[in-house]
This record gives sequence, structure tokens and C-alpha cells, in this order.
Amino acid sequence: MLLSEISPSMMCADEDGLSVLLDMFEENGIEHLHMDIMDGVFVNNFTLGTDDCRRMRRRTAIPLDLHLMITEPEKKLAWFDIQPGEMVSVHVEATCHLQKALAEIRARGAHPVAALNPATPLSVLDYVLDDLDGVLIMTVNPGFAGQKLIPATLGKIADCRRYLDDRGYGHVRIEVDGNVSIPNAEKMRAAGADIFVAGTSSIFCDGDMGENIGRFREAIR
Ligand code: DX5
Ligand code: ZN
Repeated sequence: MLLSEISPSMMCADEDGLSVLLDMFEENGIEHLHMDIMDGVFVNNFTLGTDDCRRMRRRTAIPLDLHLMITEPEKKLAWFDIQPGEMVSVHVEATCHLQKALAEIRARGAHPVAALNPATPLSVLDYVLDDLDGVLIMTVNPGFAGQKLIPATLGKIADCRRYLDDRGYGHVRIEVDGNVSIPNAEKMRAAGADIFVAGTSSIFCDGDMGENIGRFREAIR
């Protein structure tokens, strides 16, 4: 099983206190910062944007994990000033040119990730496995924080791990995103997930952030 990593959902973070939060994330070895980018078309919401990504890069060395909930992402990658080592997820439902989008992300030295909405079958990945470093399994319908896990997606995580391993792609990561609470994270880890988007139901909730991160880390060990 691949080492587990945490990617806090920065759309859930308060702007004030961000510097203290980022310092804490660095002290706690947080591996990624999940940046939800929404265009109001692929999903009915707007959240973070290109300037938020630039500002975040100036404030911390923690690599960004861009979650592009935008149509035709292959035409818009240049807007994000993607850096080597970052993760970039594009939704398979949002483009007719998935392989092109993934290849262009890799050409920028970043890690290409295919994001799948809850209803999307794994078979969409059949001919792009060589272009992937990760699969993002949405465990809620994208667009908003604070939703409830869709139960069928737990089985989909396990199916995805098996799908990748059976084809010799055991190195491809599985990221999970949506209502990744501590109880859900334990189930997701058992199913084979290894990158966890931590949002309002895990670390951005009541209590001490350091303690929340510690409990979350324990749940995904
Ligand atoms: C939803 C976003 C998620 C969301 C997670 O479309 O992709 O990253 O912010 O928030 P919670 O953890 O509250 O579901
Ligand atoms: Zn997300």
C-alpha cells in the first residue's frame, strides 16, 4: 500500500490566519495543498482562481494539488503557471481530449491526475494509464464543500486500486475528495486510497488544528 498523504482543501481555509495555518502545515509535514478551481460551468460554483494559486506559491513551498473543475482544461493549463512537482487533476467528464490534457500536464513536469465524478466508470482510464500519476475519486459530486459521502464511492475506491494493480499500475496514486471525515478516511484507506483531501469534515472543523491533523494522520496510517 502506498504511503498516505494529506492535501488540505484550501477553499475551506479562512483567509485571515492563513500564514499561521501554512506554518502549521509545514511543521506537520503536510504534503500538498488542494486548490479547488471551479468555472461556474462544469460545476455551479466559483471558488479559488489563478491568482490564488500564485499567491499560495509565494507564501509556502508546499506543492499545490490543483483540482480543475473546469471545461476544456487542455486549453487553459497555461493560465495556472503549473510548476514541476505539483499535482494537476482534470475531470474526464470535462474534456474530449483527456490524453492531450494529461500529456501537457506531464510536459510541465507536474503529476497528471484524472478526476472521476461518482458515476463515471473506471473504464474511461483504459487507454491513458501510461499518462497518469494519479486518479482522483470524487466521493461527493463536485462543486461544494460540506456534502455527504456517496456510499457507492467506497467500493469504487477498492475497484480502482484493483483495476490499477491488475494492469501493472500499482504506482499510480488514488486521491479521494469529498466528506473525507476521520471515520470515512479510515474506510477509504482500507479500500486503497493514499492521498486524502482534508476539508470541513476533518481538519477544518472545531478544535485545535494541530490535534485535528494528528487524529487525521492516525486515521489514514
Ligand atoms: C468539492 C471539492 C472538495 C471540497 C471538500 O467539489 O472538490 O475539495 O472542498 O470539502 P469537504 O471535505 O467539506 O467535502
Ligand atoms: Zn477538490
